[in-house]
Amino acid sequence: MIAKEPTSATLEENPPLYPDYLPHYDPLEKIQPVGPFEHVDPGHRADPELPNLLKDATKVFELSPHCGTEIQGVQISDLSPEGLDELALMCAQRGCLVFRDQKYTDIGFAKQKEIARHFGPLHKHGWMPHPKAAVHSAETEEFVIVYDSKEKSPIQFHVDQSPELQPPGLTFFCMLESPPGAGGDTIISSMTRAFERLSPSFRKRLEGLNAIHTTANPIARELRDNGDLAVLRRPISKAVHPVVTVHPVTKQKALFVNSSYTQRIDGWDDEESDYMLKFLFDHINRGQDFCCRVRYEPGTVVVWDQRVTQHSQTLDYQPGARRHAFRLTPLANVPIPALVEEDDGECARDEGRMLLNLC
Ligand SMILES: [Fe+2]
Repeated sequence: MIAKEPTSATLEENPPLYPDYLPHYDPLEKIQPVGPFEHVDPGHRADPELPNLLKDATKVFELSPHCGTEIQGVQISDLSPEGLDELALMCAQRGCLVFRDQKYTDIGFAKQKEIARHFGPLHKHGWMPHPKAAVHSAETEEFVIVYDSKEKSPIQFHVDQSPELQPPGLTFFCMLESPPGAGGDTIISSMTRAFERLSPSFRKRLEGLNAIHTTANPIARELRDNGDLAVLRRPISKAVHPVVTVHPVTKQKALFVNSSYTQRIDGWDDEESDYMLKFLFDHINRGQDFCCRVRYEPGTVVVWDQRVTQHSQTLDYQPGARRHAFRLTPLANVPIPALVEEDDGECARDEGRMLLNLC
């Protein structure tokens, strides 16, 4: 007989394991965005052999060929600065890293921020909740609390906060409590691979284009969904970024448009822009063979590099189960445009292939 998965207790029956991290909104809170800053990516300093990151590792394995590596036996909170530099490099190469049973969940707000700050100044979110326990909001204004009990939410691949002038690089997503059994996973998809999958002549058409990113639609959704409870701490933000970017450390190209924040291709008519963006979003959504799926346990910390990935939550678990996490989001470089490369014959080969197929 097959054992049944434990059924989920309701939120009322089970008090939260981390009450200090329950979501809190201060209706009067305002924030100043992080201004321009010089970003030196920690990955530049890393030893490519990763000796400091992996010296305590008991098991390292890929979650999928193109994206995601799980590292067991390593505590993020015990890593030296050199180990954190290597984490940045490995994350840029693999898109995301998964760490289990982390003490990071229990080291308190200040140390959690200190580790995340190694990678850049921390983003302050315009509308998502902060932890409840802060004595004053400055202590926790960089924390984003995710606390859901299966609200209706479709799969939507996105980059967090791409309308910043210097969008996030590495991001720390720390699961405090996850639904029992299965459900509530995060899907992370490689935008490096998404770009490589396109035909050479199509890739060249995208290089050199810019797109407008804005928080207008997500803010409108927040107002619609949360009504009077919605808190807007700063006005709508907007930025123009290259459609194809280059990672500052690995120099890999990645597709940098996402369905949450990218509004239009700069300089194109609405119809042209809508057509192109719909194609690119569909291409990303269909990329099951260049993404990985992270299943959570309490104490799982997932680190992803927003410059080479997109992610989506899956709210597919039993109604009433608790999924409680926090996110810290270091900002990074101004996105680097991929320059249009000379045609090295790839495009002609494309056309030749087409002709052959027609014969
Ligand atoms: Fe996100």
